[in-house]
Amino acid sequence: MPRTVLVTYGSTYGSTAELARTIGDVLREEGLLVEVRSAGLIRDLAPYGAVVLGGALYAGRWQRDARRFARRHRVALARLPLWLFSSGPLDASAAQRNLPPPPSVRRLVRRLGARGHMTFGGRLDERAEGRLARMIVKSGTGGDFRDVDAVSAWAEDVARELLPLTAPPG
Ligand SMILES: Cc1cc2nc3c(=O)[nH]c(=O)nc-3n(C[C@H](O)[C@H](O)[C@H](O)COP(=O)(O)O)c2cc1C
Repeated sequence: MPRTVLVTYGSTYGSTAELARTIGDVLREEGLLVEVRSAGLIRDLAPYGAVVLGGALYAGRWQRDARRFARRHRVALARLPLWLFSSGPLDASAAQRNLPPPPSVRRLVRRLGARGHMTFGGRLDERAEGRLARMIVKSGTGGDFRDVDAVSAWAEDVARELLPLTAPPG
């Protein structure tokens, strides 16, 4: 039986969760079995045949749930087909070029043997609580820089690599 692909994320204000849902929708449309869940809710990776893990970037690191997930499940993740994504830049940079991950995420790519990593633009608006978040929005540098087409195209690439891996034998 084909194994379920877990799309999981660490997100404080919800925008990375929405990107994960978009990725999940695309993988499903491509014929994969998919579950999309917050990284803080996953206890066991045994039910899954592959993982897509994303983290919102805060001060150059992934949001805490994504970091903890990567640490707690590092042994299982290193054995599974794994893709990572980061979401953060509050400008057009991620749409203009393939941004390298910050050093902390680069280490994860290497240690976990991830098959790919992509950085997507982020979102920050007046709904975000927290002093720093409010300061950024007030200073006029917030906004929604997520590019659904770019996210979908990346998810299609992931699906193309995954489909042969999750197909039933024979
Ligand atoms: C305090 C703070 C620090 C941030 N630091 C970074 C950063 O280091 N790099 C980056 O690309 N984006 C940074 N961002 C932007 C967030 O990553 C972006 O708003 C992201 O989409 C939030 O995701 P979430 O809604 O899933 O929490 C920061 C935002 C805040 C409020």
